Amino acid sequence: MNLCVIGAGYVGLITALCFGKKENKVICVEKDSNKLRLLKNGVPTIFEEGLDELLKESLIKDSVLFTDDLALSIKSSDIIFIAVGTPTKENWDVDVSQVEQVIDLISPYIDKYKVVVTKSTVPVGTQKYIKRKLLENNVPREYFDVVSNPEFLREGKAIDDFFNGDKIVVGCDSIKAKDIMKNLYESFKIKMVFASPETAELIKYTSNALLSVKISFINEIANLCNKVGADIDVIAYALGLDKRISPLFLNAGIGYGGSCFPKDTKALVKISENYNCELKIVKSTVDVNEKQRVLPVSILSEHYNELEGKMVAILGLTFKPDTDDIREAPSLYIIEKLLEAKVKVKAYDPMASPEIRKIFPDIIYCDDAYECLVGTDAMIICTEWSEFLNIDLFKVKELMRESVIIDGRNMLDTKKIIQAKIKAYYSIGKGNIKS
Ligand code: UDX
Repeated sequence: MNLCVIGAGYVGLITALCFGKKENKVICVEKDSNKLRLLKNGVPTIFEEGLDELLKESLIKDSVLFTDDLALSIKSSDIIFIAVGTPTKENWDVDVSQVEQVIDLISPYIDKYKVVVTKSTVPVGTQKYIKRKLLENNVPREYFDVVSNPEFLREGKAIDDFFNGDKIVVGCDSIKAKDIMKNLYESFKIKMVFASPETAELIKYTSNALLSVKISFINEIANLCNKVGADIDVIAYALGLDKRISPLFLNAGIGYGGSCFPKDTKALVKISENYNCELKIVKSTVDVNEKQRVLPVSILSEHYNELEGKMVAILGLTFKPDTDDIREAPSLYIIEKLLEAKVKVKAYDPMASPEIRKIFPDIIYCDDAYECLVGTDAMIICTEWSEFLNIDLFKVKELMRESVIIDGRNMLDTKKIIQAKIKAYYSIGKGNIKS
């Protein structure tokens, strides 16, 4: 099929390349000339497993064309995917201005029937809104259908999720568009869910909200575990044995971050409020997460009555391992609070994007974990990078001024903590150890 993907951001780029791999002719439109130049030269603009190879292959096979020529792209495509950003506003509303701009820009070039698809996460009612806007822009009704086809891609696993995900959701109100989408995904061995546009739009939010609920729930139970002397890992294991619950997304820690969960939970709360139908559980999930992500600072404040002048090492800055993405990472909120308390902060991450240096120019960035620990009064593990699993705790004790460890991802072996006589070890729901 002839496809056009507007926006070569995270979702757009993966969508364009993966559809290209499936023998479609794809044009990916990007207005950022720097990004465009890199992509045309086969240089990935984001870090994602398998992306480098896929990009190079698509250029060799000529399956994906990167361009800023919107007119040509729209005219020569049967399906137009909108994959531009939909950030959250200060008041938690979704900012759909980029989607609106795209509709205005593409309208003049819709010269025959095309399916316009939203891949970006958009508020409920956006499909209807786009239909209205296309009509207002004088696009004849018989020239378009609008479909919602949200993505469920995990960062780091996005390519695999695209080809082998659990579901493909298509929300549309036209048989013609439904058949075209069915055809597009025919070779995928993934269950397809056809629904009304509003239902599809809501599935995306509900999916991310429910996963967030699971995380905030287990985190609250973890906090209780520390009070009553129970072990959250054993509880999570036991819960996970129940097929109705599933063992996934039950890892307690310092909360969720990333580009989706924080944004989508807030957006869902706002959408529900706009419809006068409060979603208390989702709202609490956001509240619990906001508190959980700065829990290490509360633990530290309790450990040391006065934090001013202390030096703290942050191990892991990204919102999860195996990505360079720091968006909404708990580390950002922890560093902010520590700096407010006049703590000196050192940080190490194997991969965090250079963006972090712009946010916190005055902290000390180190090239390895041990260097980061030298002379510190505490360390906080914010991301469960595998290299921290085997950190030499004897060396850790030697390098730190005071070996106080806050294991925000419950990843260290408590037996080794005891052997190394670490001064204080705080976990999230697995108890604390003091020597
Ligand atoms: C998520 C969804 O999984 C994906 O389907 C959606 O389309 C986009 O958002 P992603 O943001 O890449 O993907 O990360 P994910 O691996 O889901 O983790 C999100 C956050 O939750 C991370 O900060 C992670 O540390 C945290 N998390 C996850 C937990 O704290 N505990 C868990 O048990 C699982």
